[in-house]
Amino acid sequence: MNIVILAAGMGKRMRSALPKVLHPLAGRPLLAHVIDTARTLSPTRLVVVIGHGAEKVREAVGAPDVQFAVQEQQLGTGHAVQQALPLLDSSVPTLVLYGDVPLTRASTLKRLLDAASSERYGVLTVTVDDPTGYGRIVRDAGGAVRKIVEQKDASEAERRITEINTGIVVSPTRTLEQWLASLKNDNAQGEFYLTDVVERAIEAGVEVVTAQPDAEWETLGVNSKVQLAELERIHQRNVAYALLEAGVTLADPARIDVRGTLECGADVSIDVNCVFEGRVTLGDNVSIGPNCVIRDASIGAGTRVDAYTHIEGGTAGANVVLGPYARLRPGAVLGDEAHVGNFVEVKNAVMGRGSKANHLTYIGDSDIGARVNVGAGTITCNYDGANKHRTVIGDDVFIGSDTQLVAPVRVGRGVTIAAGTTVWKDVGEGELVLNEKHQVSKTGYIRPTKKKV
Ligand code: UD1
Ligand code: CA
Repeated sequence: MNIVILAAGMGKRMRSALPKVLHPLAGRPLLAHVIDTARTLSPTRLVVVIGHGAEKVREAVGAPDVQFAVQEQQLGTGHAVQQALPLLDSSVPTLVLYGDVPLTRASTLKRLLDAASSERYGVLTVTVDDPTGYGRIVRDAGGAVRKIVEQKDASEAERRITEINTGIVVSPTRTLEQWLASLKNDNAQGEFYLTDVVERAIEAGVEVVTAQPDAEWETLGVNSKVQLAELERIHQRNVAYALLEAGVTLADPARIDVRGTLECGADVSIDVNCVFEGRVTLGDNVSIGPNCVIRDASIGAGTRVDAYTHIEGGTAGANVVLGPYARLRPGAVLGDEAHVGNFVEVKNAVMGRGSKANHLTYIGDSDIGARVNVGAGTITCNYDGANKHRTVIGDDVFIGSDTQLVAPVRVGRGVTIAAGTTVWKDVGEGELVLNEKHQVSKTGYIRPTKKKV
């Protein structure tokens, strides 16, 4: 089967410089969702018809299995499909999808394809409460489809029809070519309507069949920011309910956003207002506190992520405690039972099993062994203004509070670093390291006071 995705329209009502089909839903362009769904049907040809913002669209969704046909002027949906014809295999049917209708399920499309098979013309229709603006499905007394009439061309009686054209159709390709070539634009909008192909098919003795989606939202398109926001909520509700069905506990299914894929083990619980981006994996018994943002991360079984933790790439082992207010950046790797507490940032660094950095710390470009205690206010000074250097710390090191480690530097296993030390030279195994300084106390000091007025 061929699949053609129409995406040449401008989307004036989005009031945006970004082409409509590139506006994100769940963090990805609308068109990317349609392409994903198309791929699940394994088309032999996948063609996207582009026009407005063609180069941006090409760049955003280009892939080896996607071909583009450019429609220079938007002369109508029929004209748009015509532009794709040279790229299609005429021996198999063609399914037409819309780049701004992102939530159609593959199961619905399969139903339409089954109904049409390779010789019939199939239209995905849906009956709605308010059909305003849509093409209406006109049937004869026997219930057979006679034609599709656009809102602007419809009579009073036709406007009362509530079964509408979703726009999604499937057709034998060779005949579609002939039918499209015969279209006229003598209608209210002066466009070459794909919908007029229905009458051509009937004239040619080809049966026109219809199929319906499981849910109306599958056929909703995006023409404005209001509709985009509505579809985002529908999509997020679907994702949340799928998580619930899979056994995940959500404090509130209306307050989670998944912009990518979220895989969860058994007995995972997620508190309110969490955002998951990219590819996130949560092991068994992971609990996520409220207001966490987690992107591209893998979190091991039994790990607790407390409130306001921000992860932008990283791996945590089993039974780790993260947060509240922790930040993991790309390349952070935490061993089992590690603790990363409030206002601790870890970037491109490994923390071994059971190591703890509980308060106010920056660990960057470091290799930290097991059971290391990182005191409050510890900073790895990894950047000299031009280059990044590594800090290497052995197992069982105790780092006193307010320590600076000036990289490149190596601290041997079992070392004790006194509070307030700047370590700029390597330290041998088991040593105590401190900076000599003297505490001085003076008597008779009088602290300045504010004058009372
Ligand atoms: C179309 C259908 C209508 C249906 C409705 C469903 C026709 C004539 N009408 O109407 O029956 O109820 O969709 O939403 O087909 N596009 C192009 N090039 C063009 C024109 C459109 O690529 O020259 C693309 C648009 O980017 C959009 C899609 O086709 O993704 C639909 O176009 P639009 O103008 O929104 O069609 P409607 O008037 O809504
Ligand atoms: Ca439309």
